[in-house]
Amino acid sequence: MTPATTTGLAPRAVGTPHVRLEGRDKVTGAARYAADFPADGLAHGWIVTSTVARGRIASVDDLPALKMPGVLAVLHHGNAPRLKEDFAGTFGPDATTQILQHDRVPHAGWPVACVVAETPEQAREAAETLVVTYDTEPHDVDFRPGHPAAYTPDASPAGPGRAEKGDVEAELAASDVVVDAHYSTPELYHNAMEPHAAMAYWDDGRLEVVDTTQGAYATAQDLAQLFGLDPASVHLRSEHVGGGFGSKAQVRAHLILAVMATNLLGRPVRIALTRPQMFSLIGHRSRTAQRVRLGAGTDGRLRALEHTALSATSTLREFVEPSAAYGRTMYDANGHRTVNNVLPLDVPTPTYMRAPGEAPGSFAMECALDELAERCGLDPIALRARNEPSVGPVSGLPYAGHRLLDCFAEGARRFGWAERDPRPGVRRDGRWLIGTGTAAASFFTGVFPVTAAVTANADGTFTVRITAADIGTGARTALTQLAVEALDVEPSRVRLLIADSDFGNAWLAGGSMGTRSWGWAIQLAARELRERLALGAAVPADGLTVRSDTEQAVRALAAAERHAYGAQFAEVAVDPGTGEIRVRRMLGIFAAGRIVNPLTARSQLTGGMIWGLSAALHEEGIRDAASGALVNADLAGYHYAAHADVPAIEADWLDDPDPDDPVGIKGIGEIGAVGSAAAVANAVWHATGVRHRDLPIRPDRVL
Ligand code: MOS
Repeated sequence: MTPATTTGLAPRAVGTPHVRLEGRDKVTGAARYAADFPADGLAHGWIVTSTVARGRIASVDDLPALKMPGVLAVLHHGNAPRLKEDFAGTFGPDATTQILQHDRVPHAGWPVACVVAETPEQAREAAETLVVTYDTEPHDVDFRPGHPAAYTPDASPAGPGRAEKGDVEAELAASDVVVDAHYSTPELYHNAMEPHAAMAYWDDGRLEVVDTTQGAYATAQDLAQLFGLDPASVHLRSEHVGGGFGSKAQVRAHLILAVMATNLLGRPVRIALTRPQMFSLIGHRSRTAQRVRLGAGTDGRLRALEHTALSATSTLREFVEPSAAYGRTMYDANGHRTVNNVLPLDVPTPTYMRAPGEAPGSFAMECALDELAERCGLDPIALRARNEPSVGPVSGLPYAGHRLLDCFAEGARRFGWAERDPRPGVRRDGRWLIGTGTAAASFFTGVFPVTAAVTANADGTFTVRITAADIGTGARTALTQLAVEALDVEPSRVRLLIADSDFGNAWLAGGSMGTRSWGWAIQLAARELRERLALGAAVPADGLTVRSDTEQAVRALAAAERHAYGAQFAEVAVDPGTGEIRVRRMLGIFAAGRIVNPLTARSQLTGGMIWGLSAALHEEGIRDAASGALVNADLAGYHYAAHADVPAIEADWLDDPDPDDPVGIKGIGEIGAVGSAAAVANAVWHATGVRHRDLPIRPDRVL
């Protein structure tokens, strides 16, 4: 299974497994992350967050703090520099950027002050001494369907809030078998290994920033707008990023405060978040409450599909977790209705978190389909085959590649699905009950316009410059492989530079669209350069550069249902005495475009599958109704899958090049996290005969 890896400094071309180019730097500590960069005269900021969930700041008693050793400034709403009030950045209007701009407290853990001092210890001590008083107001963190403030938004990150065709009620009434089930998922937190951090300073009329971000260009643009700066005067770098998962896609409080402080003090300022602060300052995945109603004939063919999902947002900004959109492209039915409702509460603003919508939505839908298969006496894979649409169920668009059933066939063969006894609760291994489960996965395939520059240097080497981000996925390595292939030169002659806003517009590492969007632009520029050189173009002393922009090519793509697909399998053992669940093995087979680097691609896919395992069994942010705050805002209380929880796990793929992409890429960042929680939950049912529709499936719920 595990491919042989090449370990030299330069990768070969596309399709060859290769270790990360920067891997050695990372494991030896030579790679520098945002909080690692030195600067002369560096000062350190420490963020103070609200201890109440709603109200107004009555006072900030900054005098005692200002007298403490090393303290340089205490920033708060009464003295902070003004920001652009009606900021609308890469992701639209965003009031979460209005840090220290008003006295209103919208949720527990909101920034109310920032202490800047000579050392981080001095800043922290003063920050912990700072007394902030509040005029509190009653808060509402009561997430529940039927809450009077819930509404259907016009739009979600996955299309309209509501989409429907046909008559769901009539089709349900005419169905032989009906499944009507409620599912819930808790607040989930990204917890990237590298906490958010930024350093900012002015140099020769430019604002120099080192941030940890999934998109240096977008972050620089947004930062310039927020501070009223000429975008050309902002230079932002993020060479190494220790995970993001959606939490590092926006301008965040630590960055805003670092820039404010450097503007004020005239010296470099660094701010890093603590792990607990990452539970209120960088977004999270909202709780969801979902209802799925399926109606079918005895043959399992769907007549009605209804998926209604509720997620929470803050009072600052509407962010919709679009769980119900999952079924819009997966399964057809004459009566088809999918609705993503949202409920503003006094909670931190949720955001994109790996497979937003698809992850919780696939849990509900793929579990409901398992229930329907049981009720129809059908194998779960046969049920899905019976409901395979030929065109987009709601859109009517043709599919640009649709190998879901091939994934199931290959997965079933390798997992040994044919030998499965469908009866639940009948297999034992000592004290353990054993079960297996499966689920489908899909994730949309998109592409954004990107610019790239490829330079032929006078010494015969090549330099690629692109504002891509490597958030730990291996993007740097994959893009180098793409450049080597497109230039058709010795790998040792190619050098790739990324994560620098001066390299121009580029989509961020997000939406599973990074490598595809960046790779397209690199290939375009590299091919043209290669042609020019072949025609005898001279290389001047300062190099010959070709700059590409994929805007036109991307816009010219024909409308289609574009998705990657996958089939997830899991085997679990359940101890009915303690309620403990052990996942024994997982298998994911994906049809997700041409795979650039099989080594890092496999890690990306199994990493996503582990997210599903972790969501199914472990992860749960618990919000306290009385305080409105999270009870378990650290990695001691927020339990996620550790190494010992992760079994033999395998991911592989079918040949599935995207015909519309010049390289054949589709994107693999998120699909591993889709369907994997459902496969585990379905396996738990198969082991025990009990359906668990509320995640995580904790031991106390099993008993
Ligand atoms: Mo991802 S949630 O698109 O960073």
